Amino acid sequence: MATSHILHLELGRQYPVVVRGEGVWVEDSAGRRYLDAMSGGSMAATLGHGRRDIVAAARRQAERLSYVHNERLTSPAQERLAQELVKVAPEGFTRVRFVTGGSEANEMALQLARSYHVERGEPQRWRVVSAAQAYHGPTMATLALTGRPGLQGPFGPYLPARHLHIPPSTSHFDPTGEAALAALDRALDEAGPENVSAFFCEAIGAAALPAYTPPPRFWEGLAERRERYGFLVCFDEVVTGVGRTGRWFAGEGTALVPDIIATAKGLGAGYAAIGAVLCREDVYRAFARGSRRFTLGHTWDGAPLSCAVGLAVLEVLRSEGLVERVRERGLRLREELASALRGIPLVGEVRGHGFLLGVEFVDPRDGESFLPPEIGLAGRIDAAAFEGGLITLSTQPTRDGYAGDQTLFAPPFTSTDGELGEMVSRFAQTVGHVAREVERELASLRPAAAAPPRGAE
Ligand SMILES: Cc1ncc(COP(=O)(O)O)c(C=O)c1O
Repeated sequence: MATSHILHLELGRQYPVVVRGEGVWVEDSAGRRYLDAMSGGSMAATLGHGRRDIVAAARRQAERLSYVHNERLTSPAQERLAQELVKVAPEGFTRVRFVTGGSEANEMALQLARSYHVERGEPQRWRVVSAAQAYHGPTMATLALTGRPGLQGPFGPYLPARHLHIPPSTSHFDPTGEAALAALDRALDEAGPENVSAFFCEAIGAAALPAYTPPPRFWEGLAERRERYGFLVCFDEVVTGVGRTGRWFAGEGTALVPDIIATAKGLGAGYAAIGAVLCREDVYRAFARGSRRFTLGHTWDGAPLSCAVGLAVLEVLRSEGLVERVRERGLRLREELASALRGIPLVGEVRGHGFLLGVEFVDPRDGESFLPPEIGLAGRIDAAAFEGGLITLSTQPTRDGYAGDQTLFAPPFTSTDGELGEMVSRFAQTVGHVAREVERELASLRPAAAAPPRGAE
């Protein structure tokens, strides 16, 4: 292959050139085939690759009207997609603004929450409290939403506001959720609750803490504080929205209904760049009774072509009963994954909701600490899986203090039982192989260090 002119994400990495995809398989230019257990790598390709029906819907729309801007014009595709989303959103959600991706959806959710308070005559409300161990996107505003210096890298000086963060209530740090609630109280106190615009979090974690969700007590406590202090709750459902967890929106399963939802990936299913922000009627009413404006937007927001793809995606999900399938099959998939990995001391926990599964690795010397970062387990798992023809995504956010090495397992909803079985078996072989190497290396290293305790930032 000729020299690449791409500014790749990792300059030392060899990037396989993928030339086609069909169902859960992708093929590189050398003819090697890989099972895609990560829905295109980013969890977006929820319906698998090469769907002729979605391509046909996109083509029909493009031939009729591909693009008009939503500032002064709307289209049947945009209007219908909003209607369809409202039908599957939690009760009380009535309005939708389309954007082109997850970070944009999160930024617009932040703007919507802030503007809501301004419209209601509380312009002092701008502070945001959010979960420290999260990923909300790579833009400045979304990087600022996490409490992860390791992720923020050199961009700290640009991050617009020092938001307040609370630690995750994982089994390592806070299994009951009470410590997270106490941290939330401290954050509200520090900001002054009358200055807080929103609490922002993933309903169920994705890359930062795969398939993690706080215990019910945390959600109940958050709902009580929202009621008492009047801030809004925004859910980042960029990954979890539109079926991934076996519900249309993951927030349906929490003990609290949010006020604003940001979603993206599965809405376009990898066939169009589209995201959406949904809000409850009472949030909308603040604008309807106030300035009657919420004007910032992007060029491709609500474009007919992307919205037609979104409509075709929802139609497939409905006609093939895929949200229900993900819910039912996801339970078994988690059991199958857990059982295939049983007996490997490196595996600490297998979590999962629908087709969003996470495997957390621990130091086998004590069965609970994070692995020493120099072992580089996450990268080794992905490399070995790839060698074995399986696409996975592992992360190692150890520097941020709240999580060690983890692998995400998020297959397309359309994967057959046979394909899921093959993914699980290839993954278990990979982990078993890497675990044997790592255990040998650990035997010659210093003793396990306990998982580092951390307070809220
Ligand atoms: C939970 C979550 N939020 C936001 C984003 C950012 O979305 P995008 O990459 O479309 O901007 C991602 C991307 O992986 C994500 O996983």
